[in-house]
Amino acid sequence: MKMRRREFLWTAGAFAAGGCRLPGAAGGDYDVTILGDTHFDETEWGTYHVGWKPRDDRDAGGRRREFARDAAMWKERLPSLIAAAAKCHRPMDAFLLQVGDLVQGDTANAEMELKMYRDALCAVRRGMEELPFLTVAGNHDVRNGGRPVYDSFFPPYLSKEFGRKFDSTTFHFTQGPDAWIVADFMQPDAARLFAALDETEGCRHTFIVCHSPLTPSDNWGFFWFLFGKNEDTALRRRFLARILKRHVIVLCGHLHYTELEEWRRDGGLLTQFSFNSVWGRPEQSTPELLASDPKKWGELYVHKNATDKPEEHDGHYTNRSRAESLALMDEYAPGLVRYEKYDAAGHYRLHVSDAAVTVDFYPGDALVPERTFVLRG
Ligand SMILES: [Fe+2]
Repeated sequence: MKMRRREFLWTAGAFAAGGCRLPGAAGGDYDVTILGDTHFDETEWGTYHVGWKPRDDRDAGGRRREFARDAAMWKERLPSLIAAAAKCHRPMDAFLLQVGDLVQGDTANAEMELKMYRDALCAVRRGMEELPFLTVAGNHDVRNGGRPVYDSFFPPYLSKEFGRKFDSTTFHFTQGPDAWIVADFMQPDAARLFAALDETEGCRHTFIVCHSPLTPSDNWGFFWFLFGKNEDTALRRRFLARILKRHVIVLCGHLHYTELEEWRRDGGLLTQFSFNSVWGRPEQSTPELLASDPKKWGELYVHKNATDKPEEHDGHYTNRSRAESLALMDEYAPGLVRYEKYDAAGHYRLHVSDAAVTVDFYPGDALVPERTFVLRG
């Protein structure tokens, strides 16, 4: 029998005031169904992007390629991926998590942005409507004028889902004995994040949900992580030290890869998993292992592409020299003990208990997991 919505809300509300319960508390085992980036979009040109104005020719070209990718995948593949997730969700599910870039964005006005959010929520929750829904701001969700629409729509929407008041796009709650901290990487709120860590000290597991990773990644968006674009290096390092010490588990998206990384350094532990539901190419239902050696982290992209002329590489390294890129790699490479990167899309199931935290991966529209990643245990 499925956990009914009111049962979940009772559980959630029971811990709202008192913070985390101690490890071993009853009710500490639960699952979360997870979708990566979904980039909800139209399947035929004519609705969401009508009247949208690109910044320039380069922006127009890039966005139109994304619209074409979205149209194909939402017509041919994403409905079956979501149907598979709906068929696989189980009584242990506490909620449905989507890790941001819920929508493609790029609309002409607030009314259309709002319609896109609402249509996306219907599409990605289909068959799982009874599960409380959690999402986090992705860059596509807030760009081109989307920010005020997102800020006015999602905190109340998520508050209703979880039966408590979230008054910002950075917030936290407890699920059983665990802390769940949701971080908006597009407008990082350091004070709230440190306060959330303080308030939930002593929890069994600490999950940080963020659209971007909390570290650099070996791809075109190397600097695009929480506090990565911020020039406050001291803050970035202070936050890294804090989450290492806290043994945080990061659940993120943004990369469009299925990826696991783990650092052990300075007595700390940081485990990060990136989810991907952008099933842009049919072959992504068969995972392709791209990298698995922590010692080779950086060799797929950054070492090859970091340059003193960043504009030659799609502008992704704007204002960053080759020396700066490699220095950042050197800063994050020590202590990287696990690294697996797959070209693969699908849905995922997180299992949480005292003994372990694992992720089952269902590539494409698979109804059985292709593999299980052990995050803890
Ligand atoms: Fe994305």
